[in-house]
Amino acid sequence: MTAERSVLPSRFSGLSIKLIATIIAVILLVEIVVYLPSLANFRASWIDDRLRVGVVAARVLDAVPDVMALPRNLTDRLLTSAGAYAIVYRREGQSQLIELANPVTPDVVVTADMRQRDLMSLIMGAMDTLFAGPGRTLRIVGEGDLDESLVELLMSERPLRQDMLAYSRQIGVVSLAIAAITAVALYLLASYLFIYPVRRLTQNILAFRQAPENASLVIVPSARRDEIGIVERELAAMESDLFSMLRQRRHLADLGLAVAKINHDLRNTLTSAQLLSDQVATLDDPKVQRLAPRLVTTLDKAIGFAQSVLDYGRETAALPVLAPVSMRALLEDAAFEARLVGHPSIVFADQVSETLVLNVDAAQMGRVFLNLLKNAREALEAAPAIAAPQVSVSMSEEGESIILSVADNGPGLPPRARDNLFVAFEGSARAGGTGLGLAIAREITEAHGGRLVLADQPAGTRFDLILPASLRIRA
Ligand SMILES: Nc1ncnc2c1ncn2[C@@H]1O[C@H](COP(=O)(O)OP(=O)(O)OP(=O)(O)O)[C@@H](O)[C@H]1O
Ligand SMILES: [Mg+2]
Repeated sequence: MTAERSVLPSRFSGLSIKLIATIIAVILLVEIVVYLPSLANFRASWIDDRLRVGVVAARVLDAVPDVMALPRNLTDRLLTSAGAYAIVYRREGQSQLIELANPVTPDVVVTADMRQRDLMSLIMGAMDTLFAGPGRTLRIVGEGDLDESLVELLMSERPLRQDMLAYSRQIGVVSLAIAAITAVALYLLASYLFIYPVRRLTQNILAFRQAPENASLVIVPSARRDEIGIVERELAAMESDLFSMLRQRRHLADLGLAVAKINHDLRNTLTSAQLLSDQVATLDDPKVQRLAPRLVTTLDKAIGFAQSVLDYGRETAALPVLAPVSMRALLEDAAFEARLVGHPSIVFADQVSETLVLNVDAAQMGRVFLNLLKNAREALEAAPAIAAPQVSVSMSEEGESIILSVADNGPGLPPRARDNLFVAFEGSARAGGTGLGLAIAREITEAHGGRLVLADQPAGTRFDLILPASLRIRA
């Protein structure tokens, strides 16, 4: 089961570009938040400057008894120095006005009341100026230098707006420069700290997965002590483990194949020898008559051994093919094959209900019972002292499981068998045993979603085959 192979993303679709884009976006966002109040302040101080000139002019006017008598070019100079069309000075209910020699009649007038200085109205005023169309006239209202005096200036809004635009451009250029420099600096740092090592890891994983038997692809960890260093070292350990496991597995597979071939030939050769020995057994010579039966049983054993090794190789590879099977019938067959049916001394008791039908692989499940029953018979035959030897199979239910128990009243498991129970080729504790029976039985049971366990009991031996109740077919 191999998942689709991944490819390393290009430099511009991977982590790096996401990082740079995020940094720039965040910095620009911060700059906008800072920009609004600073633009509002810029506008306020610009207007304050003009207002100050207006206040000075107003003071002069206040000192002059008759404003109208002032020379025209003097008032014009006063007004142009403030950049205004007209200045109005109000005090104690009286107001004085000076304006240009050829007065301007304003179209659209907006008021900038500098007595209101909270941030929100300053920002709103700045936005209004920035996005306004051309040709508006600005009416600036501010306090004079004496108590309760008021100064008003009328002027074109254009110079203010142009200065604000120039200021915004400057801020924009500076912001972009800051964002770019920060992004590059952070990118270089992050590249060195994360992106480069992560790319190296990614590249290595991709390459190693394609050729895990190539030991030169095992990553060489750096000396870093941080999390990435740990990942590198763990990956290196994992890759070398995988490498040796794969190599070992291949060797084992090769060996297994060789054993299977040798075994196969051996069995054929032994079968020929068996035929010969059968013929030898018919000879009249008394010596031959004495030795032949032993020869025949020895050969039988050897063939049985070769056969069971071959079966082990085959049996474990096949997936169970499930079909409804009557357990009674299956057990009868297995008992017959295990030579329990019609046995001279051992009584076989099949207590499984006739109606029990399970969805199992008949051939494989038959092998499980054959092995268990054969073991029981062999154990009982090896202990002739036991009175009324008996083998029984019974069924019980527990929660979501069906338990089929194979029990005998034999001598119990020898300690040597107990230690390596269910381990192929290791579990045998009797002469001529291969140690495969229980290993195969357990493997088949597990492939059916069940478990095979040795039950704890004082006398005799009992194996419990625990199968999921979902395998049961109800009539
Ligand atoms: N019912 C039993 N009573 C006593 N001992 C048993 C019983 N069943 C198994 N054993 C012991 O467990 C060992 C392992 O059994 P297993 O079936 O795996 O191998 P085997 O019978 O020796 O060889 P094989 O079945 O491959 O021919 C046996 O050698 C035997 O000593
Ligand atoms: Mg056995």
